[in-house]
Amino acid sequence: MNHDEHKSEKKFIPALGYDFLTAWYDATIRITMPEKKFRNELINRLKPEPLEQIFEFGYGTGANLAIASSQSPNSSFFGLDIDPKVREIAFSKLKDKDILVDLQLYNGDIFPYDDAVFDKAYSCLVFHQLDDETKAHCFREIYRVLKPGGKLIIGDWGKAKNRWMRMAFYTVQLLDGFKTTTANVKGLLPDYIREAGFSDVQETGFINTRIGSFCYYEGTKSLKIKNQI
Ligand SMILES: C[S@@+](CC[C@H](N)C(=O)[O-])C[C@H]1O[C@@H](n2cnc3c(N)ncnc32)[C@H](O)[C@@H]1O
Repeated sequence: MNHDEHKSEKKFIPALGYDFLTAWYDATIRITMPEKKFRNELINRLKPEPLEQIFEFGYGTGANLAIASSQSPNSSFFGLDIDPKVREIAFSKLKDKDILVDLQLYNGDIFPYDDAVFDKAYSCLVFHQLDDETKAHCFREIYRVLKPGGKLIIGDWGKAKNRWMRMAFYTVQLLDGFKTTTANVKGLLPDYIREAGFSDVQETGFINTRIGSFCYYEGTKSLKIKNQI
């Protein structure tokens, strides 16, 4: 696939599959997906509380952070994304709204945070852009940076809920490629989340959109870590 290379050490798929399309990301999501609904349902599941430290993996243009932090201005939000281009867009979007978020750039390796620092973590429309090894690595890293008892919320493409949804999802696969999206199509994200160490992993809902079935998954980092018992 024609995936662009950037300053980060790792190759990645930009928000809309190709770097030159990134400027149209927000408009495309608005047109192709029920944006208000899927983002609000994500943040409703996250339930940000005052004083919590909350982490978004793959913040993109900052749309989820804008909703979450306006809903809970006394929580602290942190974001990590690999693409400097979306960081610029997110930075100016949040600045215009007077929202303060720590937006970091990811180098594709270990997350730049200590162990067990976040109360909650979430990620939206990111894992279908990661190859299988990177999916596993990033779920393990999210697990590491969450506090025991911490909650993970994922919103991403999942197994199509009917034949039409499966057909529609080829649109996304043509842009983002088949390699990184196949595990999503097979409904394997919960297995990756479990393998990273999370308990109580489940699909908690879905929305059928014009371009596929968007699913919500949750997991919890147990209060007792297995190898410490
Ligand atoms: C489809 S966009 C989703 C953006 C945002 N979360 C949203 O809900 O609109 C996918 C995002 O994942 C980021 N991304 C892709 N590969 C990544 C990687 N290996 N590590 C971190 N972020 C990555 C892209 O830069 C992009 O911002």
